[in-house]
Parts: sequence; C-alpha cells; structure tokens
Amino acid sequence: MDNIYLDHNATTPVAPEVLELVTSVLRNQMGNPSSVHSVGRSARVLVDEAREQVASLIGASPSEIVFTSGGTEANNFALLGAALGLGKTGGHIVTSLVEHPSILNPCRQLENLGFKIDRLKVDNLGRVEDLEGYLSDSTLLVSLQHANSETGVLQDIERAGEIARKRGILFHTDAVQSVGKIPLQVQDLPVDMLSVSAHKLNGPKGVGALYLRKGTPDLFSPVCGGGQEKKRRGGTENVAGIAGFGKACELARLSMQNASNLSSLRDHFFHLVSSMIPGVEVFGDLENRLTNTLNLGFEGVEGDTLLIALDMAGIAVSTGSACSSGSGLPSPVLTAMGIPADKINSSIRFSLGWSNTKAELERAAVILAQTVSLNRAGTYAGKTIKT
Ligand SMILES: Cc1ncc(COP(=O)(O)O)c(C=O)c1O
Repeated sequence: MDNIYLDHNATTPVAPEVLELVTSVLRNQMGNPSSVHSVGRSARVLVDEAREQVASLIGASPSEIVFTSGGTEANNFALLGAALGLGKTGGHIVTSLVEHPSILNPCRQLENLGFKIDRLKVDNLGRVEDLEGYLSDSTLLVSLQHANSETGVLQDIERAGEIARKRGILFHTDAVQSVGKIPLQVQDLPVDMLSVSAHKLNGPKGVGALYLRKGTPDLFSPVCGGGQEKKRRGGTENVAGIAGFGKACELARLSMQNASNLSSLRDHFFHLVSSMIPGVEVFGDLENRLTNTLNLGFEGVEGDTLLIALDMAGIAVSTGSACSSGSGLPSPVLTAMGIPADKINSSIRFSLGWSNTKAELERAAVILAQTVSLNRAGTYAGKTIKT
C-alpha cells in the first residue's frame, strides 16, 4: 500500500513541472544573473520571470518582491529590517503569542537590543485579541500571521492592518501557510510586508520572498553583500530554486480554483473520524480556517505514540506534543489557546494537499480508528501498544 502524506503544513511535495524546471535550470543554466554576458543574462531572465510569477500570485508588482532563502529569512528581514531600519532603538513592536519561531525569536533578539515587544493573546479558538489598545506613538511595526501552521486558524489581518495603517504603523503578515492555499491579493489588503515560502506550495525548499509594498521606508538588510535584489538582499541568487518557486506559484493559482474540493475532503475525513472514534475534539476556529488543516485531540491517547503507530502504518502526520517539538514544552500555540497539557499531548495535526484523494483519506480514517482503539486498549491495561 502507498504511504499517505497528511503533513502538508510541514512541507509539500515538489510538483512534477517544478522538478522538471529546476533540474533543467541546474543542468543548462549555469550563469550568474549579475554577469553582463549572455550566459548571465539568460539566468537573469529566469529570475525576472519568476519574480513576475510570484508577484502575480499575490497581486503585487514584480519590483515589490525580494527573494530570500525561505519564510524564516523573509520574517527575519521584515522584523529586523523594520526595527533596525527605522532607527528607533527602544521602539515598540506588536506581535502575537501564536507566531512561528521565525517571528518570535527575532522579537526576542530585538527585546535584548532594547525594543519593547507586546505579544497579543488568543482566545480558546486561536483568534488573536484586538490590537487597538496596544498601539502607541512609539509603535513602529505590527506583525501578525495570516494562518496558523498548527490549527490553520486565519487571523483578521484586514482589520488589524487597517488599525495599524490609520496610525501610520507598518504592518507585516507571515502568510507562509496561506499563500498558495487560499486566494490572497495584496492590493485588497492593508499590508506593507508579507512573507512567502516556496516549499509550502509545492516548490523547492530554501527559497521564499518578502513582499515589500512600494513606498515602504528602506529596511535594514540582515543579509547584505553585493547589490542583488536592489541592494535589499545580498548574495548570488538561487536561480534554480527561484525559477522553481515561480513555477510553483503559477501552478498554485490554478490549483486554488479547487480550494473547495480540499475543504470538502478535509471535512469528509473529519466526519469519518468523529463518527468512528469517540472522544475526539477539534482545536481552532472552524469558521476561519485554512481549507486543508484539521487539528484533533484524541482523549486518553498520547499523540506521540499515535504518530509513531500511524507512521508505521504509512501515514505521515504531526503532533503538538512536547516530545515532537524537541523543546520539551507542549505546543505554544495550543497552550496560548488555554488547552490543558494532557489534551495538547493528545493532539494530531492533519494537513492535506492537492494530491490527497478521497480513497486515501477514507483509508487513513479507518487506520486511525483502529490505531486509537488499540492504543486506548493498551493504555487502559496499563501498557502502551505499539502497532
Ligand atoms: C507560519 C510559518 N512561518 C514561517 C515558516 C518558515 O518558513 P521556511 O521553512 O521557509 O523557513 C513556517 C514553516 O513552517 C511557517 O509555518
């Protein structure tokens, strides 16, 4: 039996068309885009084309796209770039408790440098509290994620961005989990900066972009070197990766037309799971959520044991437990939502992708039901069964 991959929020498979392009660029295009000769110029054409494709997916203009080494660098660039670029040491930044570590850790670094950071709380559905009361004359940046990787919960960045914009405060959103999964057009959103990562949308790993709205003040460049990316991000471009990223964006525009198929597949899976397994709880807002994500708690079951058992049965998922995070702490996202530690340790994240089929999800639901039931039987008998 084939494996079933249900961990697309961690990473996605490279689309065949992307793989073909990346391989062909690596094989046939050895130029440095900064070189003046024709070998260099043809590499430059590839980078320019990709810039148009990425821009087109999010409704930006190509000059507003800065290529980076991925979502982490794009987030670091936005935070460190805005904080240090605006030159207000001791300035104030607002973010939330449920951001990705690539936001939280630069915030910690900025705190060490004397910046003041406020982290918004979330309610039990993972929705971030109102921003308004946190802003002051020293606030220079608000950074709020669009979609959460663990729960899929979507924040109201439209409202938050409007509030920031009215006060002339820069607004950044980490849209790594939403771009390519749901339609998003920057011209309809009050955002100044937005982070994207190729490997979350069937592109290669190690490449991403920061959208920088025209007119945004000059940022500090954490990666400085040559004059690449209009002096905004130094380093010879990852031409093959960037070309693959562009292709993946072009393909994502087409696959997103089937976004409702993905949510009905996800909901069908949930319906099967909850009818076959007692004691199942969904974590996160059901109304405002990515179409592909489902975070479930299984009463009385250790998520890590379940993950291993599912892995042995050929199903890839992830957990919010302390062991899996490697930090020794349970998921900060679910913790911020006020979910008790035992429930967090029973949680499994299922994240679907375009290639998942109904048959796969039906098979996964049956295996999951068997695994949970074996696990509960083992736990009740005082020992854990490893299937
Ligand atoms: C919300 C979010 N932001 C940023 C990142 C980091 O992106 P990358 O893996 O491209 O560095 C991730 C990756 O999991 C993510 O889920």
